Amino acid sequence: MTENDFILKSFNSNLEAGSVKWSSPSNIALVKYWGKREPQIPENPSISFTLSNCKTITEVTYTKKEGSDFSFDIYFEGEKNEAFKPKIQTFFERIEAYVPFLRDYHFKIETSNTFPHSSGIASSASGMSALALCLTSIEEYLGADYTSDYFLKKSSFLARLGSGSACRSVEGELVVWGQNESMESSDLYGIKFNGDLHSNFKNYQDTILLVDKGEKQVSSTLGHQLMHGHPFAKERFKQAHHHLAQLKAVFASGDLENFVKIVESEALTLHAMMMTSEPYFILMKPNTLEIINKIWTYRKATGSQVCFTLDAGANVHVLYPENEKDDVLQFIKRDLAVYCQNKQYLLDCVGKGAQLIKN
Ligand code: PMV
Repeated sequence: MTENDFILKSFNSNLEAGSVKWSSPSNIALVKYWGKREPQIPENPSISFTLSNCKTITEVTYTKKEGSDFSFDIYFEGEKNEAFKPKIQTFFERIEAYVPFLRDYHFKIETSNTFPHSSGIASSASGMSALALCLTSIEEYLGADYTSDYFLKKSSFLARLGSGSACRSVEGELVVWGQNESMESSDLYGIKFNGDLHSNFKNYQDTILLVDKGEKQVSSTLGHQLMHGHPFAKERFKQAHHHLAQLKAVFASGDLENFVKIVESEALTLHAMMMTSEPYFILMKPNTLEIINKIWTYRKATGSQVCFTLDAGANVHVLYPENEKDDVLQFIKRDLAVYCQNKQYLLDCVGKGAQLIKN
């Protein structure tokens, strides 16, 4: 499919008002997206586990209006929020060509997260995905007749234009984004991984250790930009393709040892790219490294297949198979919680994707 296939061609403009509500989960990348070109096209392919508990819930109420400006209000956790407005304004500008009714309505956007506010967990993936799904639903109310496959693709396409990784939050359990030769894929939207998946990966666990709940010092927008002209960019992009091909085999065989190697290498490579860009920066904190070392020691001592991954921040995602749940949780409580702010961590696991809450 091309970008043109996502333009809403005609719609019934008699609809006066209505509302829709979606919940959409966050996701955690196993092969990381880092580096993009206009318009939000990834420089390398990525794949992620969709999460289950960390979600954004968004209700959009639309009312017909006069005038040709964008008009919207945002309420975050019940309170009017001005800080999110520029991001939504940019999002609307980017998607207008595909969603031509945006200037015809006033939108009240009410949104909340299931994870604690300012936990250092990026809400842009779940947030943009939930909003995109609401807009695609509104297209249907305006008369568009979409198959469920097209509905999901268009929602993911729009979500991508809000925040790249958001396109991987529409569906579960594993979603690929970015063209590559190993898996069915597109640069324009996420696609559910449709290869063989060994039962070792069923209900995979992700416990998110909240090491640093503050604002990131460097935004991912800037981080992506710094991959232009980065001395190691070309090799990094090649490596991501290679890791994806290896993961495909790992998913089929259930080879957790290689899973751990690929996933941890990806996390450290992401941060290595940050540390070697111009300007360079470090998002890990001392406690991030303490946790990584403790995980390595525990794995060596017990033969466990627990591993870590990182997002663009200091928090650590601890990944492990469901059959290790009791042991790893004890380990986390005993040895890792002390490195978290207020000993806080979030229990999550792989999930199935977004859900329509109210039509
Ligand atoms: O979606 P963005 O532009 O916030 O980029 C996020 C990139 C990482 O979270 C660091 C990796 C990924 O693939 O999710």
